Amino acid sequence: MKGIILAGGAGTRLYPLTIVTSKQLLPIYNKPMIYYPLSTLMLSHIREILIISTPEDTPRIQNLLGDGSAFGLQLSYAVQEKPEGLAQAFTIGRDFIGDEPCAMILGDNIFYGNGLGAKLSAAKRAAEKGEATVFGYYVEDPQRFGIMEVKKDGKGADNNYRVLSVEEKPKIPKSNYAIVGLYFYPKGVSDMAARVKPSARGELEITTLNDMYLQENRLNAQLLGRGFTWMDAGTVESLRKATNFVCMIEQYQGMSISAPEEIAFRYGWISAEQLAQSVKRYGKSPYGEHLKAVLEDRIII
Ligand code: TTP
Repeated sequence: MKGIILAGGAGTRLYPLTIVTSKQLLPIYNKPMIYYPLSTLMLSHIREILIISTPEDTPRIQNLLGDGSAFGLQLSYAVQEKPEGLAQAFTIGRDFIGDEPCAMILGDNIFYGNGLGAKLSAAKRAAEKGEATVFGYYVEDPQRFGIMEVKKDGKGADNNYRVLSVEEKPKIPKSNYAIVGLYFYPKGVSDMAARVKPSARGELEITTLNDMYLQENRLNAQLLGRGFTWMDAGTVESLRKATNFVCMIEQYQGMSISAPEEIAFRYGWISAEQLAQSVKRYGKSPYGEHLKAVLEDRIII
């Protein structure tokens, strides 16, 4: 299974913060935003990841993350010339994806919660069986999101829901469940995405792609209920909330969340020597201190 982080976009809602840098490189508390979606793909046990960004920002992200070996990953990079829509990730990534299933996460989406791994594994299993999965999160303002209507799927232990309808920013929403920025697709997604026509706003919409899977009766949902936090950090206010949230969690627990090197070490993807090199790289920062505690085996789970 392959993974894509879509980390382009104009970031205009964050101006002037994003005039000379990528939104995805801005800090969420003590680490760059892109560490969070990277961690989410890693928790899905995905190790071959394509990062797609703008012509200006792709080299900056590459400077930060390199070839991925420090995270036990194979990272590659591709450019999206213009932000022409989320579904374009799969045509840009066609050669990278090849004949495999592929997950995609938006570079400004943060997922946190105990049990996330099980939901990601369920989505991965479905993708390997030829079905797509989207993730739903209850929101108060459904007019602003891609919204889905769902029904409990009686079969199976994976707590899948069947999706009944999907709609982009509906005026009269059929539910309060937003489709968030993490999607799992079976093999063949690039061909499917190539058939998406631009919407009225001129974008290749992920909602259109999801609707194609729905029409073929191949669209599942996993719902992120109480105990899960999802945020997108695309506005000044949501960026502040995300920083406050991570700060609160890390200070209460006394340990870092979404540290890719820690995930890699716990999964056995990097050696203690490699983790020690990262500890050195991050120096005396709180993030470096956290990795040091992991290396010294002071944190058990
Ligand atoms: P958005 O928040 O919709 O767009 P944006 O980041 O350009 O921000 P703004 O509206 O403030 O100008 O995008 C969500 C995520 O998807 C974000 O991480 C950027 C990414 N994205 C792309 O990489 N390419 C695209 O074509 C689009 C539409 C978004």
